[in-house]
Amino acid sequence: MNPLKGPDGFNEFYLSMYGERWAALKEALLAPKKHVAVLNPWSHFKFLEVPLTVSGLSFEHDVKELFPRPEPTHHGYLNYYLMDAASILPVEALDIQPGEKVVDLCAAPGGKSFLCALKLKGQGLLISNDRSAARRARIHQVFDTYIPKTEQKNLTVTSYDATKWSLYQKNMYDKVLLDAPCSSERHVLEDSKELALWAPGRTKAIAITQFAMLASALDIVKVGGTIVYSTCALSQLENDDIIKKLYAKRAGRFELLRKEFSFGEPTEFGWQVLPDTTGWGPFYLAVIKRLR
Ligand SMILES: C[S@@+](CC[C@H](N)C(=O)[O-])C[C@H]1O[C@@H](n2cnc3c(N)ncnc32)[C@H](O)[C@@H]1O
Repeated sequence: MNPLKGPDGFNEFYLSMYGERWAALKEALLAPKKHVAVLNPWSHFKFLEVPLTVSGLSFEHDVKELFPRPEPTHHGYLNYYLMDAASILPVEALDIQPGEKVVDLCAAPGGKSFLCALKLKGQGLLISNDRSAARRARIHQVFDTYIPKTEQKNLTVTSYDATKWSLYQKNMYDKVLLDAPCSSERHVLEDSKELALWAPGRTKAIAITQFAMLASALDIVKVGGTIVYSTCALSQLENDDIIKKLYAKRAGRFELLRKEFSFGEPTEFGWQVLPDTTGWGPFYLAVIKRLR
C-alpha cells in the first residue's frame, strides 16, 4: 500500500513519531510565536524597561510575543535582531572565542551568523556560506544593517555547495555551524498548498542531503574542533537519525559533547526544543567534536 500523502499523510507520519504528544505539538505549532530581540551592541540601543530574559542565553535580549520591526538608531545600525530563543542555542553550543576560524555552512538569512560575529568581536574569521544567491543577498543586508563596515573585516560571504566543501578544504576550522535546510514542519502546517503537496519521501530526501553536509563538515573542521548540527525539523529522520548514521559511517572519528540548556529536553544524541512544553522551537541540535 502506498504511504499517505497530503494533510492526512502528514498527520499520520508525525502521530506515529510523537504518539500522544502530537496533538499538543500540532496545536503549539499553529499558535502565535514569541520572539527574542537580541540587542545589537553596535546600535547602542537600550531596552527601556527591564527586559524579560530566557535563562542561559549569553546575548543581551528581551522577550515578547510582538516587537516593533527593528529600527536603525542614530548610530545608523538596527537596534535588535528578532529570532526564536531556540535558534540562539547552536551558537551558544559552539562556544566561539574571539580569534577562532568559524564557518556557517548554511547561513542565510544570517541570524546565526550575526550572533557568531558578535562572539568573534572582530577577530578571527567568519565565513557565512549559502548556495542561494537571493538568500546570500540577505546575509549581506544583515551584515550591512547591523555591523559597521570597520567591524566586518573578518566576515566573508561565500557560495559553495556545503555537501561538496570537503572536496576542496580539510581540517581548517575551529568551529563549524551546520544549520541545515530541513522539512520545517511549522511552515508546512501554516501553508495549505505546502501541506497538500507533503509526502513522506520529502523528509527522506532532505535527510540524505543533510548527512552529506555533515560528512563534509566533519572533514573541514580541525581535529579537536567542534561542529554543531541543527535543524528546525520535527522529523527524527533529520535529527537524531543523522547522528546515528554518522556513528555508522564515521565511527571513531568524533565524539558527542552532551550539552544541557535551560529549556528543551535531551534526545538520544542531542537536544530538542519543542513548542508544546517550551513555547519555542521546534529546534534540534547535536554537538560533535572531531577526534581524527
Ligand atoms: C535553515 S536555513 C539557514 C538559516 C540560517 N542559519 C539562519 O540562522 O539565518 C538553510 C539554508 O541552507 C541553504 N542551502 C541549501 N542547500 C545548500 C547547499 N547544498 N549548500 C549550501 N547552502 C545550502 C539554503 O539556501 C538556506 O538558506
